[in-house]
Amino acid sequence: MNSLTNRRILLIDDTPAIHDDFRKILLPPVDDNSDLYLMEAALFGQTAKIEIPVFELDSAYQGQEGLAKVCQSLKDNRPYALAFVDMRMPQGWDGVETIEHLWEQDPRLQVVVCTAYADYSWDELLERLHGHDRLLILKKPFDNIEVHQLANTLTAKWEMTERASVQMSKLEQLVEQRTHEFKQASEALQREIDEREQLESQLVQSEKLASLGQLAAGVAHEINNPIGFISSNLGTLEGYFSKLQDMLDAYQRSEEGIASTEILERLKSMRERVELDFLREDIPLLIKESKEGISRVGKIVKDLKDFSRVDSNQEWQWANLQQGIESTLNIVANELKYKADVIKEYVDLPDIECLPSQINQVIMNLVVNAAQAMGPQRGKITLRSGMEAEHVWLEVADTGSGMASDTVQKIFDPFFTTKPVGQGTGLGLSLSYGIVKKHGGDITVSSELGVGTTFRVTLPIRQQHSST
Ligand SMILES: Nc1ncnc2c1ncn2[C@@H]1O[C@H](COP(=O)(O)OP(=O)(O)OP(=O)(O)O)[C@@H](O)[C@H]1O
Ligand SMILES: [Mg+2]
Repeated sequence: MNSLTNRRILLIDDTPAIHDDFRKILLPPVDDNSDLYLMEAALFGQTAKIEIPVFELDSAYQGQEGLAKVCQSLKDNRPYALAFVDMRMPQGWDGVETIEHLWEQDPRLQVVVCTAYADYSWDELLERLHGHDRLLILKKPFDNIEVHQLANTLTAKWEMTERASVQMSKLEQLVEQRTHEFKQASEALQREIDEREQLESQLVQSEKLASLGQLAAGVAHEINNPIGFISSNLGTLEGYFSKLQDMLDAYQRSEEGIASTEILERLKSMRERVELDFLREDIPLLIKESKEGISRVGKIVKDLKDFSRVDSNQEWQWANLQQGIESTLNIVANELKYKADVIKEYVDLPDIECLPSQINQVIMNLVVNAAQAMGPQRGKITLRSGMEAEHVWLEVADTGSGMASDTVQKIFDPFFTTKPVGQGTGLGLSLSYGIVKKHGGDITVSSELGVGTTFRVTLPIRQQHSST
């Protein structure tokens, strides 16, 4: 017998004699049986023994009593498989009402209605009880074998239904578990796809940087020489011109000694034709502008060089990020002064292994960009720092213009700028990206158009291989 075997039967009938009959039918004396088995065994051997189900019969003489027994059986976790219910019980509930109450408590209970009278038609019964699949009718007077067979098949039916429902719930659990596993697997797959996509875009980014780096190194090298002599020539030219000015002054002063009015007139008209006074004013200005221009070109070339080689002659050092931020803020203080208030939300950070001047350059780019993103109204630049496991992070958040998502896609691209010609080379962020990657860190951005932008730089505290 397994745990689902259930031979428990409840008889609800107000006639005590019926209970005796049922007892005789369903509970044959044990000894008789064993004698019978022994005889059978002697005749046919052990294998011929017939399994006679052993029922457990409880009696109730009224509907309410029957209900109490069913409730108790459920409490004890020993439910009845089957109830025989008399239809006509003058005291208390009749059979139909009793069955209604029993099923309210235990819908699995198989029921046989025992009746001698046609108090209800079969149709009425079914309509009231809604239990087509759990209800049989036994007309009195009944046959013993009929009762026995009903008990046999209906308790077996209870067991099968129970078994099916256990299987069903196991199956449901299995389906749920498989669905859960499937969901987890698909989430893991999605994560992997996302990671791959991110890696791919990083790869594209670093390939872009690498090829640009080569180009930049070549261009920087080629341009550096002419810049050198142009700028030195401009310096010399400036000096020569100032001597020429002195000379012209001297000539002009000596004109007083010229007696010939004709020569004096010629000189005057020539002076007017070449606009000597204007030239004397304008040439120094042109030289000054050219010097500024060439120094700007020099700065771009330096950026390009930094970008391509990210100054390889530097040494890895243990440095304090906070100090770097402070000194950078001092340098750019002028740029910030009229544009934004700087709010500092730092926590104490450990020293990190880095190339300090490059990290400062990253901070400077971010802070200058933040200041440049401000509109006519004064804004806020918030600098936050923190630590997470083996990393430190720094955030530069501004209340500036923010960016549309298609701009955000391009900001780390070399030479991408939205600033007017002469104001931005578009190298700040690609340089910063290269530096942060070189440190084994990460730089991310979140931005909302019209609201502001936050850049977050994450850097490892310790470098994996401390060589440049
Ligand atoms: N904090 C910010 N708010 C809004 N837009 C920004 C911000 N930071 C960067 N950007 C956008 O990203 C572009 C690229 O920035 P990046 O620093 O690389 O170059 P740049 O500032 O234009 O020029 P450079 O830094 O070389 O002077 C900027 O032109 C701007 O459009
Ligand atoms: Mg910039």
